[in-house]
Amino acid sequence: MLEIQGCRPVEALIGDSPAIHRISDQLQKAALTEVPVLITGESGTGKELAARLLHNLSARRSHSFLKVSCPAIPDQLFESELFGHEPGAFTGATGSQAGKCEQADKGTLFLDEIGELNLALQPKLLHALQDFRVVRLGAVDERAIDIRLVCATNRDLEAEVAKGGFRTDLFYRINVIRVQMPSLRERVSDIPILMNHFVKMYSAQFGGTPAPLHLSFMKSLESYHWPGNIRELENMAKRYVVLGGDEHILSLMREPEELRPLVPEVIDLTTPLRVQTKRAIQHLERKIILGVLEAHKWNRRKTAHSLDISYRTLLYKIKEVGLPVVQSANPPQHKLPFRDLQKLPGINDFR
Ligand SMILES: Nc1ncnc2c1ncn2[C@@H]1O[C@H](COP(=O)(O)OP(=O)(O)OP(=O)(O)O)[C@@H](O)[C@H]1O
Ligand SMILES: [Mg+2]
Repeated sequence: MLEIQGCRPVEALIGDSPAIHRISDQLQKAALTEVPVLITGESGTGKELAARLLHNLSARRSHSFLKVSCPAIPDQLFESELFGHEPGAFTGATGSQAGKCEQADKGTLFLDEIGELNLALQPKLLHALQDFRVVRLGAVDERAIDIRLVCATNRDLEAEVAKGGFRTDLFYRINVIRVQMPSLRERVSDIPILMNHFVKMYSAQFGGTPAPLHLSFMKSLESYHWPGNIRELENMAKRYVVLGGDEHILSLMREPEELRPLVPEVIDLTTPLRVQTKRAIQHLERKIILGVLEAHKWNRRKTAHSLDISYRTLLYKIKEVGLPVVQSANPPQHKLPFRDLQKLPGINDFR
């Protein structure tokens, strides 16, 4: 885990997977230099967090970290926002205003979602980055800017360059060191660690003791495909804490779109075929068993009979595929009795 002294816990890069160690290493090395860094990765993979950590690790840490979200600035205001303006530069420009490039003096300028930057504005940015000088709108003189540039995008910028949607010269300017954030699917071993971390963090923030994290729930989390990556996991942990673990587990069980396990449409280049096949079979079995259990109002004996398997086999499979061990006496609510919750493994029991 890459943690910066003085950072709020949320600003630490949590995880122990090889992928997260690689990112920590890259950020630490990049922080020793002043060269532009381009952080890429799917939505919610921690690009902004990585940019902040890079700044906090660098010699610029005592100066500002200024974020500019490129799509949030209207095209006509882009130059004024970034480079500043002088009075009368445009209607409504009454005073002098330094742009973000100047405001980030001696610090880090983080251009988020750079891939969304209008093609017509790209040469203006390139010009400023070429010799780190800007001219405020309405001014004549150039001003030197002392910034460390960090950009982020979830777009495939090489593909954009090939299509003509992003300028090649700007791409080479910003893409000196590349940090590619892994998706959560590529660091499955970090899921329990992250879930544990967020549940603890939000329990401390919101107060109260969270329900213990169920081992089968963790298994389901590990096999989910996480399109929203860590942000999605964080939101799930928040809901787990706020709504109460048991209800939440069961509501997730009833929301297949929320807990769609990893199925073959996700290309996994690193997991052996037998593991992927086992996961896919478990996913299918889970779906079938859940459907039949629901059809029989969670009566397990009737379910076992319908499926033509023994009662013991059904119990084993219910556990294996991560379904709740519901008492048939309490079927309509799909709710775990409190005493069963007490028997669930503790937060650290599955490590
Ligand atoms: N390794 C990590 N450890 C702890 N928290 C993380 C980690 N990675 C991301 N997060 C948290 O996940 C959330 C999303 O991260 P962040 O905003 O940095 O992602 P992003 O890649 O910039 O997303 P987007 O593309 O949607 O802007 C944040 O709350 C962040 O603190
Ligand atoms: Mg972001």
